Amino acid sequence: MEELATILIKDLKDIATARTFVRNFAKELGFSTLDQTRIITVVSELARNLYLYAQHGQIILYKHQSLSQTGIRIYVADSGPGIADLQKVMEIGYSTSGGLGAGLPGVKSIMDEFSISSSSEEGTRINTVKWLR
Ligand SMILES: Nc1ncnc2c1ncn2[C@@H]1O[C@H](COP(=O)(O)OP(=O)(O)O)[C@@H](O)[C@H]1O
Ligand SMILES: [Mg+2]
Repeated sequence: MEELATILIKDLKDIATARTFVRNFAKELGFSTLDQTRIITVVSELARNLYLYAQHGQIILYKHQSLSQTGIRIYVADSGPGIADLQKVMEIGYSTSGGLGAGLPGVKSIMDEFSISSSSEEGTRINTVKWLR
């Protein structure tokens, strides 16, 4: 796994920075324009959540190379208040702010691998991968 960039999110403008980074990497890795758009949507949604609900944290982008596949791994971590009812939040239609990405369930459906852990002590961590096809 090769780290491509770490983006600290603490300001509204950092969301735009994260979008620019992931756009460039997704293109470089060879994702289709449709997948590039989807991956940018994912990073926008996660960065926006981070900024809105946890104020600050980080996004790390990796090139993930396994024996048979190449992909992009997006890791998002904050030390915010955490998500009280993760199960509910992952139900389609729960999203409150009506963003384009349709919230965390939308992120999960776009990506090939998705895991989330969240608690009031540890904050929220999301680890997600999209493979090249
Ligand atoms: N990083 C985070 N830290 C704390 N709470 C979060 C975080 N991300 C999401 N949440 C909580 O989960 C809910 C659902 O998030 P999401 O699916 O993105 O929908 P929306 O942002 O539209 O409400 C949010 O309303 C918020 O309460
Ligand atoms: Mg959201």
